[in-house]
This record gives sequence, structure tokens and C-alpha cells, in this order.
Amino acid sequence: MDSIQNVTPQIAWVGGSDRRLALFENMFPLENGITYNAYLILDEKIALVDTVDASVTRQFFANLEAALDGRAPDYLIVSHMEPDHCANIEEICRRWPGIKIIGNSKTFQFIGQFFDFDLTGRTLEVKEGDELSLGKHNLRFHMAPMVHWPEVMFTLETTRNILFSADAFGTFGGYFGNLFSDELDYETLYLDEARRYYTNIVGKFGPQVLAALKKLGGTAPSIICPLHGPVLRGDTVELLTDKYTHWAAYQPEKRGVVFAYASMYGNTEAVVNKLASLVAQKGVHDIHMYDVSKTHYSTIIAEIFKYSHVVLAAPTYNLHLYNAMDMLVRDMAALNIRNRDVAIVANGSWVPMAHTIMQKLVEEEMKDMRLLAPPFLICSAMKPQQQPELEALAEKISASVCG
Ligand code: FEO
Repeated sequence: MDSIQNVTPQIAWVGGSDRRLALFENMFPLENGITYNAYLILDEKIALVDTVDASVTRQFFANLEAALDGRAPDYLIVSHMEPDHCANIEEICRRWPGIKIIGNSKTFQFIGQFFDFDLTGRTLEVKEGDELSLGKHNLRFHMAPMVHWPEVMFTLETTRNILFSADAFGTFGGYFGNLFSDELDYETLYLDEARRYYTNIVGKFGPQVLAALKKLGGTAPSIICPLHGPVLRGDTVELLTDKYTHWAAYQPEKRGVVFAYASMYGNTEAVVNKLASLVAQKGVHDIHMYDVSKTHYSTIIAEIFKYSHVVLAAPTYNLHLYNAMDMLVRDMAALNIRNRDVAIVANGSWVPMAHTIMQKLVEEEMKDMRLLAPPFLICSAMKPQQQPELEALAEKISASVCG
């Protein structure tokens, strides 16, 4: 059974929603599933914008057949060749052999890598700024390499200023009946997940995201149709555009402190609790605390993108850094997180190593990270004589946040 909805009278959402999936990309926990959006532009010529993940193929074809109402699509625009969007390309070509696939040279390279069917005579290659008229709808193609893969491209419907934005402006979270962001409480229901989605999936490629957004010019789209999550309309367009300029430039949204800590027997955690308490008493109230062994790293990464300050606290383990913290800090480096004020708390009972490893990763593997003080090191447990040093660290953190 179909569940199509109109984005405009001539543009239909024909995607699907998977609320059963536990891990996106087999990595990122999903509490409420995810949508795989596809859109059908019905004009003199008909263009399908993307397909969907294999898991929602049945929903997709029910929606597509209903929206087509017996007509045949002329074009399949492939915004992104990651399998969560391209799983049905071959089946589309089998059902409608006359369809032309629109993409760029990288798109067709990747189709050849993922599929074995013959592309001869089926392709229409586009470059930056190329346009295609469907009748009353005019499409302009903008290359958006590395938002999230190298072949990604945006399609702008120029008569109504509707942007088909590929992974950009998408979010984790399924479809629950309301298609549009202005028909639901987007900030409450989706914003944190949109941040977690962006920062972990596309966060590494901030400069490329900014370059792609610049190509669209200064006028905000009237509607943004991403490949995941609600269709953006109304105030949410401005909200997300503003968030993207912060996230892509690695600029914190708010001044506040994220404590990310690991602790085996509670001694490192006790220092973190004391430090957070001191920082709070010195006037910092936006404080967030995560045990890296308990909270998935993708949530902590999103929080570190959001806030200006981060405290990393962990014990030594096997003459190295505690595993879960090692993974978090290396992921921060991999995602190019920069421009944050950092404090380090470390523990070690016989050969302390955590402090030097965390400091090295922060100072040598990341850019524009400011260490507020030398690492605060405890050997097994904090001693009373270390209280002044911890007070001084709290003072530095609070002065930096409030300054
Ligand atoms: Fe939603 Fe990069 O795929």
C-alpha cells in the first residue's frame, strides 16, 4: 500500500521509513529508525530523484507506482551513490528501460562498481551549473563533492527554489506521518539527531560542505528535500542553515563544557565529579557529562561539536589509553574537530600513560585545540594535596567559558 505525500502538487515524496533498523551503517544506534527519501517530479517529463535503501524497497515501489499512476519516468537523478539511496537503480532500469540516469562522471564510475548492468545509452552526464527543463520545472545541478562522498550533487528546482540536498540537512529518525518540519516540533524531535547525523556522517568534510552551500547563492531555498528525515520548510530552513554554518566551520553553537570520562573503579570519575562541581560553582551552568563506556561515541561527538569546551578524563589501560576514550579521541581527530578549549584529567597506577597519549592526540592530531592547563594526573586516586591544582584547573575552565 502506498503512503505518498505531496511536497508540492507536482512533487511527491515516494520514499520509505525503516523503524526496525538498530544501527545505521551498522555503527550508529537508532532509537526511532530512519527515513530514506526519494522524490518524484511530475511534469511534461518525469524525474525521480534518487531511490532508497534495500530495506524499504517494497514501500518505495508501492509509492512510486502510485505516484506515477501509469506513466513512465523519463529521468532518474542520482544525488548520491551510497547504497542507502541507490539500492534500486538496477530495478528501476529493468522496470522502465527507457529511463535516463542523470549523474556526474563519478556517479557512473560508482554505478559500475556497485552494479553489473549495462549503462550504454542510459546515462546523461551533468556538470556544475548544467540545467534541465522538465516543462514547468527547471533543474540546475550543483556538484557537492564530499557531502558525503565524492560524487554527491545537489539539484535545485529553480522556478520554486526547491533544493534536493542529498545527505545534507538530513537526520536520523523515522517518518511518523508528518512529512514537513513545520508540521511537527522539529527542534524537540529531530534537532539533536540532525546534529548527531551531520557530525558523525559528514562532520569530517566541513570545508566541502561550506563550498557546496556557497554555490547555492545567498537566497535560502523555500523547501529543502533531504535524503533522510523531514522535508524542511518554514523557519526550519533558516534554523538548519544556521546550524550547518556552525557545524561545517567547527564553530561551537554554545559556550559550555562537555565532560567525557572513563573510569574503572570510580577514582577518575570522582575527580570529574569534583571538577564539574567546582566549575559549576564558579558560574558555568551549561555542563554535560558522559561516561564513554556507557554513552555511544556518536552522541558525545555531537555534543563536542555543539559546545565550546571539552574535558577528557581517562585512566591508563595496558600501558595505553583506556579503549573507549582512545576511540573517542581518535574519532574527534578523524572528524577534524577543531577550535575547542580542552582540559585533560588522567589516571595511572604503575606506568601512567593516558595523560601523554591524550595530550599528543589533541595537540598533534587536531587543529586549533587549546589546552587550558597541563594534564591533571592522579596516581590511582586523587590526594588532598592536589586540591589546589584542581581548583586552579576549575578556575581556568570557568574563566575561559565565561570570558
Ligand atoms: Fe545517506 Fe551518505 O548516505
